[in-house]
Amino acid sequence: MKFENYRPEGEKLPIFTYPDQVLSVVAAPVTDFNRGLEQLVRNMLFTMYHAPGIGLAAPQVGVSQRIFVLDVDYDREVVTNAEGRDEVRMSNFNPMVLINPVISGTSGTTTFEEGCLSVPGVYEEVKRYKSIHVKYQDLTGAELELTAEDLLAICIQHENDHLDGVVFIERLSNLKKNFYKKKILKEKGR
Ligand code: NI
Repeated sequence: MKFENYRPEGEKLPIFTYPDQVLSVVAAPVTDFNRGLEQLVRNMLFTMYHAPGIGLAAPQVGVSQRIFVLDVDYDREVVTNAEGRDEVRMSNFNPMVLINPVISGTSGTTTFEEGCLSVPGVYEEVKRYKSIHVKYQDLTGAELELTAEDLLAICIQHENDHLDGVVFIERLSNLKKNFYKKKILKEKGR
């Protein structure tokens, strides 16, 4: 992995929210594994940790490419420092980046209450595969694969949906989906 001794450093990118157009587009495959890609990934990780969230896909920061980052392991706590101010401390980072991912195998089902940085304030149970096998590329373009279960599998499926222009509320029942769509559009005055 490229992120040994990882420290969150970079730029906080603006997060696009539903129904912004970039979230409903099928993202393009990454073809250039260059310095610019690494910088984008570092900025996406920084943005994810500071949001805070456990996953972030490139379309969420306005980049329509097949990339997502995630970390389902890090710890985050708010502590009061010596000056009496609250400070966020994060530790045990385990950043992952999946480029051009393809879910090549699935088994079982599970449900989990999901949220999304692009759909603030909405938390709903979504049905997903319990275990998945994924082929993907890393920052160097090397082809890798992994098997994931439970939270990691759920997170990968949620982020992978973003690459196909699907936001998690679209996985809800028609009743709930329409309720949230109307509510969000009303709140945004559209
Ligand atoms: Ni999301």
